[in-house]
Amino acid sequence: MVRKNKIIHGDCGEILKNKTLFPDESIDLVITSPPYADKRKNIYNTYTNDEYVEWFLEISSELKRVLKPQGSFILNIKENVKKFERQTYTYELVLAMKKQGWMWIEEYCWNKRTSFPGKWKARFRDGWERCYHFAKQSDLIFNHDAVLVPIGDWAKVRFKDGKIHEHDKNTYLSKTGSGFKRKVENWKDKKMVHPSNVLDIVSVTSNLNHSAAFPVELPAWFIKLLTNKNDIVLDPFMGSGSSAIAALELNRNYVGIEIDKDFIDIANTRMVMDSIFKSRKSLYEKNITELKKYDNKSCIYGFFVKNSKALKAYSKSRKLLYVGITTRGLFQRDINEHLKSGKTPNSSFRRSIGAILKKDLNLQVMNRKLKNPKYDKFKFTKESEIELTDWIMKNCHFGFWHSKEDLTKKELIYIESKISELYRPSLNLDAKTKKYNKMAKQLSGLRKICSDEWKNKNGVR
Ligand SMILES: C[S@@+](CC[C@H](N)C(=O)[O-])C[C@H]1O[C@@H](n2cnc3c(N)ncnc32)[C@H](O)[C@@H]1O
Repeated sequence: MVRKNKIIHGDCGEILKNKTLFPDESIDLVITSPPYADKRKNIYNTYTNDEYVEWFLEISSELKRVLKPQGSFILNIKENVKKFERQTYTYELVLAMKKQGWMWIEEYCWNKRTSFPGKWKARFRDGWERCYHFAKQSDLIFNHDAVLVPIGDWAKVRFKDGKIHEHDKNTYLSKTGSGFKRKVENWKDKKMVHPSNVLDIVSVTSNLNHSAAFPVELPAWFIKLLTNKNDIVLDPFMGSGSSAIAALELNRNYVGIEIDKDFIDIANTRMVMDSIFKSRKSLYEKNITELKKYDNKSCIYGFFVKNSKALKAYSKSRKLLYVGITTRGLFQRDINEHLKSGKTPNSSFRRSIGAILKKDLNLQVMNRKLKNPKYDKFKFTKESEIELTDWIMKNCHFGFWHSKEDLTKKELIYIESKISELYRPSLNLDAKTKKYNKMAKQLSGLRKICSDEWKNKNGVR
């Protein structure tokens, strides 16, 4: 049976042959972006222009086996340049795949809108890539209306004040010489229309640490068009997990294969973070009570700031401020401690926010009785604690991810450290991950001011 919502480690050429993991006709959509020919030789085996087609045909033969009859295969690929010339393996591959029994349905042009800057002797910036659409038969899932786009400003001008020019009521041959006929009146009351086969999707990715990732919007567009809810999307070259994130966002399942373990870590971390980010909410009593549902669950949570000038140096909007874990459930451990006045001693998050806002909110510190000199020895007075809680409730968002399986503390700490490495939350001061936090030194300094203030006031050394 297909292992839904998992990334399998290994070479897809081998793993796809496993009929237990990938039974015949079990996948609704394959979407992938394999390595270019001759690229990244130092990282994983890739193939020359001449070897590429033979290598890929073995994989596409298995993809054809596992794809359902009404399924589709989207192949994002681009021929790279070698010794001044564009290579030809993409063309050869299409011809060979047709011989293998695939129908070549369409070629989409992904207009990346931004491209790698540079100047070449006889070439300009690479601004687009191909997305080939293959299928097994003409009767395939194709949800035309799932990818409608706004009609565009031309319609506002053409149908100004709801009027139609006499000329637009007739059917004309297109002036471009394409041979197409058109009747402009048919577009009058439309707000949304079907798109063309040129996809304008900015290539900026939030994928972090994967140089060849596509933006989540690209697989998302094809997933909406070519699958239905609960379907299974396979990416055999999963990389940093963009297809998986798109599938989950659209209530589909994914299954992935990836040869590089580090990328699997990145992909899994992105998925956790995506869920934390998407679930983020204001911290009002009602939302907090809801979190009781997650008692005794393994959870990872994140704090974000809404729009606070006071934390400007520490957080841009949407940036992760703080990440934490709990095996006791969100309410028991975290919400109860991070958001309760008087709980500052237990919450590093509260001590950090308080230290940053000390001046602005005129917060007063007190001693935090601790034997271990490693920890900062301060908390806030009762009034200041209430002030701090109030500020956090008003200005912070909270999001979380909960694991479907029980995870050990060690496993949670591992994910937390990966999140720290990739998303660099600016309030985490954990010894092992502090190196990823650019603001760590400044924040430790502010916390020390708080610790010292009480000591100085009371003559404690
Ligand atoms: C172009 S990248 C895919 C990027 C991906 N679309 C994303 O958004 O991150 C190709 C990926 O295929 C992986 N790869 C290369 N050869 C492989 C193989 N034989 N089996 C599985 N994965 C492989 C590489 O490690 C790399 O992460």
